[in-house]
Amino acid sequence: MSSTVSIPAITTGSLNRSFRVGSSIVHAVAEMDVAIPEGRLTVVKGRSGSGKTTLLNLLGLLDRPDTGTIHYRKIDVISMTEHERDHFRRNEIGFVYQTIALVALMSAYENIDFRMRVAGIGYADRDKRVRECLRLVGLENRMDHRPTELSGGEQQRVAIARAISHHPRVIYADEPTAELDTVTGVHIVAIFRRLIEEEGVTVVMTSHDPAMQELADYVIELENGSVVTES
Ligand SMILES: Nc1ncnc2c1ncn2[C@@H]1O[C@H](COP(=O)(O)OP(=O)(O)O)[C@@H](O)[C@H]1O
Ligand SMILES: [Mg+2]
Repeated sequence: MSSTVSIPAITTGSLNRSFRVGSSIVHAVAEMDVAIPEGRLTVVKGRSGSGKTTLLNLLGLLDRPDTGTIHYRKIDVISMTEHERDHFRRNEIGFVYQTIALVALMSAYENIDFRMRVAGIGYADRDKRVRECLRLVGLENRMDHRPTELSGGEQQRVAIARAISHHPRVIYADEPTAELDTVTGVHIVAIFRRLIEEEGVTVVMTSHDPAMQELADYVIELENGSVVTES
């Protein structure tokens, strides 16, 4: 963490999410308090099954906690109506996944353009922004390539360009480097850094790769649904 302490972008209070499996209950996230610093790269680490994906899905408003609070700055996103929460998620949050979900028949340009069209952005603004996003991930010379004509790392960069296209304030990336070699993974993290610097976003990614954790500003380690270290 650098010397200037930034205010938290997202905080949780006693967050709980459990799943019933047969007759037993799994406490995937248990009484969890985290504070995600704004404009920084946070890595959530922990063994498989420690609750990383569950936490990201809760923070990203893809899932609802059983109990507990989530605030974006001062905004209580749990008390929102379903409609308000959908609107907030669509506008303020971007997602990147381990399995790169690009549309196979669309070029890199079209994949990003399509995401922005869904967000209701007009053509003139879209064209400028698609090019800008491709530049941010270093793929301005690949815009007409389809996913099969790109390497795995390049595909993930298109997915990141798409995730940032609508100017979200937070990007959640669940194991974005898991299917890539370490060198390519480090390159992906460098792109997240660039987005933090140039676009002022907050990035939260999960990873169990120590090489990625070393590049983080802030690391949250989970074990059995609880935070064991934060630094
Ligand atoms: N939809 C679900 N139904 C039942 N159990 C689940 C579900 N999602 C997650 N779990 C359980 O919750 C725990 C945490 O899972 P997860 O958040 O996916 O961990 P991680 O991403 O760290 O591997 C695991 O024990 C997992 O089996
Ligand atoms: Mg997971």
